Amino acid sequence: MLRVGLTLAALLIPLQIFVGDLHGLNTLEHQPQKVAAMEGVWETQRGAPLLLFAIPDQASRSNLAAIGIPKLASFILKHDVDAEIRGLNDFPGARPPVAMVFWSFRVMVGVGMLMLAVSWVSLWLAWRRRWQPERLPRLLLWVLAGMTFSGWVATVAGWYVTEIGRQPFVVFGLVRTADVASTVPAPMIALTLALYVTVYLALLVAYVAVLKYMAEKPEDVIQADALERAQGRAAEALVEGGRS
Ligand code: HEM
Repeated sequence: MLRVGLTLAALLIPLQIFVGDLHGLNTLEHQPQKVAAMEGVWETQRGAPLLLFAIPDQASRSNLAAIGIPKLASFILKHDVDAEIRGLNDFPGARPPVAMVFWSFRVMVGVGMLMLAVSWVSLWLAWRRRWQPERLPRLLLWVLAGMTFSGWVATVAGWYVTEIGRQPFVVFGLVRTADVASTVPAPMIALTLALYVTVYLALLVAYVAVLKYMAEKPEDVIQADALERAQGRAAEALVEGGRS
């Protein structure tokens, strides 16, 4: 199980990052204001830096603080260190909530990079230790367990980038979200959301409980239990058949 999981993660995560990069180039072409928000670029500029940290401020239409690597955003987006990136201030009336997009993007990419590092290091160590989990460092096993929901975190963050970054449009440049907002009363929407959250929480608890059960019992005990139950059912069916 460890071997399949780690091998798949180590192969698929670089692919996801590659596709993510292509996705970004496509977004730059069709929704440039979303990319400007992802990068925290307010003023149109040549040689835009890749911001590692910033506090985007919607009111002053600027970053209150920023730390970045010079020219890297231009290079990643246009493969030219001096390329021009159009800033958010050049999209009047079409600016999304910038901080949400900026930080969701960093969470997605950050988690993606963490997944890459953890999967490669774990694959290498597991291979060196002949795929025996008990020979892996305990800390690494904890890190792997902690990464269980990392894919989900990156997926939700990516979805935030896509949906919030498109605002105030629902169809970019054509239909505004405000014009097609549902007339369903807010309490009804809140109720539906609460029901969804309840169902998914129940599923999550069941999932973790099954994982715990499987982790605590060796595979042959689980199989022996299943066999015993199947034999019990078969015996009951025979008795029922004999009666009728
Ligand atoms: C690490 C490098 C990554 C880069 C450069 C990247 C890039 C992007 C970009 C640019 C978008 C927004 C596209 C748009 O709305 O036009 C996006 C969305 C998304 N990303 Fe990532 N991503 C990365 C990692 C990941 C990872 C690791 C996951 C999940 C495991 C992920 C899942 C998603 C999802 C689900 C969306 C929303 C897609 C949609 O609703 O259309 N991304 N990504």
